[in-house]
Formats: sequence, structure tokens, C-alpha cells
Amino acid sequence: MRVIPSGRALGAEIQDVELKTSSDMDFAEIHRTWLDHLVLRFRGQKLTVEDLIRFSRRFGDLDWAPVQETGRRFVEGHPELYVVSNVLENGAPIGSLGAGEAVWHTDMSYLERPPKASMLYAVEVPPTGGDTHFSNMYRAYERLPDALKQRISALTLKHDATYNSGGYVRQGAAATDDPVLSPGVYHPLVCIHPETGRRALYLGRRRNAYIGGLPLAESEELLDELWWHATRDDIAWYNQWQAGDVVLWDNRCTMHRRDAFDPSSRRILYRTQIQSAASESV
Ligand code: SIN
Repeated sequence: MRVIPSGRALGAEIQDVELKTSSDMDFAEIHRTWLDHLVLRFRGQKLTVEDLIRFSRRFGDLDWAPVQETGRRFVEGHPELYVVSNVLENGAPIGSLGAGEAVWHTDMSYLERPPKASMLYAVEVPPTGGDTHFSNMYRAYERLPDALKQRISALTLKHDATYNSGGYVRQGAAATDDPVLSPGVYHPLVCIHPETGRRALYLGRRRNAYIGGLPLAESEELLDELWWHATRDDIAWYNQWQAGDVVLWDNRCTMHRRDAFDPSSRRILYRTQIQSAASESV
């Protein structure tokens, strides 16, 4: 197995490993490398849905996928599998997020215990566009001015449960743009990663975010400042997808976003999400 760091603030490619037949020793190295580099890419994988689920389970129990924007659950018999796709079959979308941009976010941070990791497997990708960008939230925190670190150290942030990263209203939610009243869950703004002990900014999504206890205008101003630090190009890396790519990221210390792509091209990716055990939660 060879590890090729991206040379950026996060991300590495692991070569010469077949995930579906990887050994326990391979897995131990993959896990260590993932904690060091935050996002891993494995190219040229040939996985069935069952292989993907089996490999994902090595990291822990899997979450059930959120229900699709149309209210449908995706793959019969595989409730853990979320399909990210713009493809229509018989006029109905086979997955979520369409072909538009998906804004910066951390997966499912509107839950009390968000998944610790997400894995995407590319089945079909467009010739251009649809790249997925990742940002290093340890670095975002570490680079804050000391006074700002001090100011946010005891603050909590509400992570909105209304919209997904494509801007679609989640199943069962009512559209609102009121950050104070929107439904959501509070997490500390600065989290300590349970496996590395490092501090990371934990921002979730910008839309409807609200810092508990502050006047709304003050919360908005502080969030704008934190988001500026968190989305700087020099703490980011992106993946230009090839079919057969598997990309695994740590939700506790990264954010990600996706570029739009030509809606007349096809993009199909399968996603799994690994639950945090109580000791692994942010
Ligand atoms: C996601 O946000 O989980 C999907 C990212 C992508 O479509 O590349």
C-alpha cells in the first residue's frame, strides 16, 4: 500500500489496495492514514453495493440514509445507501442533490450524534464539473486570531435541520429562513476530536445557523467571520472524480461542497455514513 499526500492542507491517495479484499492490517493502516490526512481517495475500485457496505462497516455501524428529497428511500434492501445523482428513471430522480452546486457543509450535523465519517463511491461521473471540495477544520481553528479563539471557546451553534446542502427542504421540515426559530440541534462551535484530541471548528451549514444566546445580528457577523476563515482556498483540496473512486472523509474535522455540472450529463455516486459511537462523537 502506498500513501501519496495531496500536498495540500488535507487529502491523500492510497494506492495498491483493493478495498473489497483488504486485510485487517491494511485496514489498520487505512484508519491511521485517514486520521492523519482527514480525506482519503482510492482509485480504480470495482465494488458491488454489498462490498461498499461491508468495507464501510469496518469503521463502525452505519447510519440509515436520509430519505430522498421526493420522500423515497433509495435502494431496496439497503437502507444504509444514499444515492447522490441527477439521473431520472421513468421521470423520477434515482437520487438526491440534482446537478446544482452543493454548498459547504458537514454531513447531518443537525443530529444530536452526527456520523463520524462518510464514504462516496463513484459509479458514473460527468466529463467535467461536479468536483467535490474539502476543507480542513483543524487548520481553520488553528489559524484564528487568539482573541477570536477565546471569544468562541464556550459558544454553541445551532445546526439547521430545514435544508440540505442542495438547498432542498428536508422531508418533514417546513421551509423557513429564520435562524432563531428554525429547528436544529446545538453543538459546541469548537469541538475536540475524540480520536486525535485536536480542536476543530464545527460549523455545519451557513444557512439558518445561529449562535445560541447572541442577538441575531451579532451571531450573523461572527459566523460570517468564522466562515471566511473556514473556506479559504489554502486549507482546501478537491477531488476531480473518476468512475471507481472511493473517497472517505472525517466529518468531525472537515467540511465539503460540490461544484455544479452539466445537467444533461450523468452522475451517480453511492454514499454510506458511519455512526459515531458515544466515545467517538464530537
Ligand atoms: C455530499 O455532499 O455528500 C455529496 C457530495 C458530492 O456530490 O460530491
